[in-house]
Amino acid sequence: MNTTQSVQKLFKPVVVGNMTLQSRIVMAPMTRAFSPEGIPGSDVAAYYRRRAENGVGLIVTEGTVVNHPDAHQQPGVNLPQFYGEKALLGWSKVVEEVHAAGGKIIPQLFHAGSNVTEFTEAEITKMIEAFVQAATDAKRLGFDGIELQGAHGFLLDQFFWKKTNQRTDRYGGDIVSRTQFAVELIEACRRAVGPDFPIVLRLSQWKSSDFTAKLAETPEQLEQFLTPLVRAGVDVFHCSTRRFWEPEFDGSDLNLAGWVKKLTGKPTITVGSVGLDSDVITFLGEGKGSGAEISSIDKLIERLAQEEFDLVSVGRSLLADPAWAVKLRDGRWNELIPFTAESANILY
Ligand SMILES: Cc1cc2nc3c(=O)[nH]c(=O)nc-3n(C[C@H](O)[C@H](O)[C@H](O)COP(=O)(O)O)c2cc1C
Repeated sequence: MNTTQSVQKLFKPVVVGNMTLQSRIVMAPMTRAFSPEGIPGSDVAAYYRRRAENGVGLIVTEGTVVNHPDAHQQPGVNLPQFYGEKALLGWSKVVEEVHAAGGKIIPQLFHAGSNVTEFTEAEITKMIEAFVQAATDAKRLGFDGIELQGAHGFLLDQFFWKKTNQRTDRYGGDIVSRTQFAVELIEACRRAVGPDFPIVLRLSQWKSSDFTAKLAETPEQLEQFLTPLVRAGVDVFHCSTRRFWEPEFDGSDLNLAGWVKKLTGKPTITVGSVGLDSDVITFLGEGKGSGAEISSIDKLIERLAQEEFDLVSVGRSLLADPAWAVKLRDGRWNELIPFTAESANILY
């Protein structure tokens, strides 16, 4: 296969969940902590614009915190917030810049969660209201949709995962009951934003506290888990894995995004070590700050050609190199900048 030619598959404009995208490349959500007091400034807007003007079809912002006291991850980390006049003004400038460059952008709405087993019904209602407010603001500010952070062991995922959800009310129990919180939250967001505003849900089997965790052990369980979420109004699933080429279940080559697309019929986004030779945990976890070397994307293109998934989300490669996508498109392999721990310390 001629690599430069086959790479063009990534650059065919595509309509996904009502969004017309200039390419199939998605910038993965990445916390950068460059928003002092939670307010994204002009440097953050320029950072996202740089990716949009260099071939990225859809940007998912870094996790941005909804307006609820428990939503912040840890003190001292300058996660941008998605509430308050100044922060929202900052976000509206980000949207303007990305749109001016021909890109699309959705905020990743984030709530860190805590002990979900102890939340009262009143607290649950408050948390859902915080997401609804954020979804409403996202639409008002001109974002192209929203992504709900349902992965990696944060709030929604704490309800999904048996180990963290020991509730005995309607929010706990079997895998279907454990979707109930997300279902109510998605339904409420859907009512607020209307039928045409894309809602993306990010999911993962792995948790930041347990890289080998599994929500679903079999395709049947995965289907039980996904069915209520689709019914509630999810348009696109963003399936977070560490290595896109790994089969999710025995007996098939399909990865998680492949299975979710097959089981739901909804468009999916794959992610995990695209263009790199080691996974994100070498940076965030075990390896503590390790970089990664550039590697071939031939296997990714083959899977895309088979329509296993619709979009490809890219994290560290795009963090390190704003022009990663256009360099690939133009066959400028030798100009790609590898991801290093240092690249994570600057916002460019
Ligand atoms: C610095 C950094 C920050 C991240 N922050 C988030 C985040 O805020 N929300 C999220 O869902 N994932 C986050 N991730 C995970 C990425 O979205 C992505 O799934 C992961 O890096 C794997 O993609 P990659 O192998 O292309 O880097 C982060 C990853 C990195 C490297």
